[in-house]
Amino acid sequence: MSIILAPSLLAADFANLQKDIQLVNESHADWFHIDIMDGVFVPNISFGFPVLESIQKYAQKPLDVHLMIIQPERYFETFKKYGAHILTIHYEACTHLHRNIQQIKQLGMKAGVAINPHTPVNLIEDIAHEIDLLLIMSVNPGYGGQSFIKHSYKKIEQAHQLKTKYNYNFIIEVDGGVNATNASQLVQAGANALVAGSFVFHSDNPADTINKLKEV
Ligand code: DX5
Ligand code: ZN
Repeated sequence: MSIILAPSLLAADFANLQKDIQLVNESHADWFHIDIMDGVFVPNISFGFPVLESIQKYAQKPLDVHLMIIQPERYFETFKKYGAHILTIHYEACTHLHRNIQQIKQLGMKAGVAINPHTPVNLIEDIAHEIDLLLIMSVNPGYGGQSFIKHSYKKIEQAHQLKTKYNYNFIIEVDGGVNATNASQLVQAGANALVAGSFVFHSDNPADTINKLKEV
């Protein structure tokens, strides 16, 4: 089975967003990865609902929304309204993670949990049967264009072992510093979905770069 590729619009040209959305629509990419940052959970602010509303208008592929915000439950309904297919919340940001996962699923979205580089995979063991996606952060969230943290391979393997042991189906997605050099090793370790921002949008030919990443 080929991997799911989700270009992150964080690295797109925000002054020509429609052009970059169209590029992804016409490419072999599978999802749009949408990074929402609140300046509290992470030391950066990305964009909010008015921009998401515009993205939804033109995007013809599922919206994979990654919330780097505290108290994300305040906005679940709004993200549903603006077309999120997968809503991923951070383990570190949710005191009542189990409840939040149920809320996302009740709204008809797929539910994902993201873990920061310092968070062990075994901490999600008791929620793993409830989730559709585990997002392993391979950089510290907050910025695009950072270097891949190599310890992430081990975490992907552990997540894969957890899946195999209990026969779980959740997708293992990797986010941060993904490029053509590390992509195949990530897939070998057990990743099913790769997020790539800078490597796609800062390349000379983003559509070719997407193909290259899809071929691993
Ligand atoms: C980082 C974001 C990523 C980011 C990835 O906080 O979650 O999705 O856009 O960007 P690259 O691929 O440039 O590391
Ligand atoms: Zn992300």
